[in-house]
Amino acid sequence: MNEYDLIKLRIKEICENYDKSSIGGWITGDGPIPADIMFIGEAPGKNEVESGKPFVGMAGKTFEEYLNSIGLSRKDVRITNTCFFRPIKINLSKSGKTTISNRPPKISEVNLFKEVLDKEIKLVNPKIIITLGNVPLKRLTNFKSIGECHGKLIYDDILKKHIFPMYHPSSLTYNRNDSFKEMYKNDWNLLKNAITNMKGR
Ligand code: URA
Repeated sequence: MNEYDLIKLRIKEICENYDKSSIGGWITGDGPIPADIMFIGEAPGKNEVESGKPFVGMAGKTFEEYLNSIGLSRKDVRITNTCFFRPIKINLSKSGKTTISNRPPKISEVNLFKEVLDKEIKLVNPKIIITLGNVPLKRLTNFKSIGECHGKLIYDDILKKHIFPMYHPSSLTYNRNDSFKEMYKNDWNLLKNAITNMKGR
């Protein structure tokens, strides 16, 4: 069994041993290993679990659109998550109907995958890691919020890697104003520049 098979097996073990009522399936990362560019999201949703791949739902569509806009496609980059299962909450309506919705992963849930994510990063060996949203940002750095560091290239002394924090693509869904969109687009252009400069190293 190779190193990546071991990572996948460990993810499977963690998920299968976790409280079944708190999760709605699980996935692993997608894309080449090794890869110079690695995106790390929060956790999969329903569409991701159904297709077995990260970022294929609504947020994934936004993500891919912007990725393509800077001349990259999914096959060029590694995409993974901070939490590999879909965290869910079960809502019971007054009429007794149950519905399932996504929820952000708890810190304890993120911590379950600390070791496997670190191993995946080591194996992928990227030149740049792009964190999407607050969950991967807080997991990998000491920043308290994406608002203070998005669009900046940061060198992480512990990981010995460049990290480029970005807003999560789903933030475009609830921040529809033009200035946010402009800022988000600009961050992707800054990422393009950071990647171009990195190629020269
Ligand atoms: N949002 C994430 O953070 N990860 C996914 O895989 C899908 C949506």
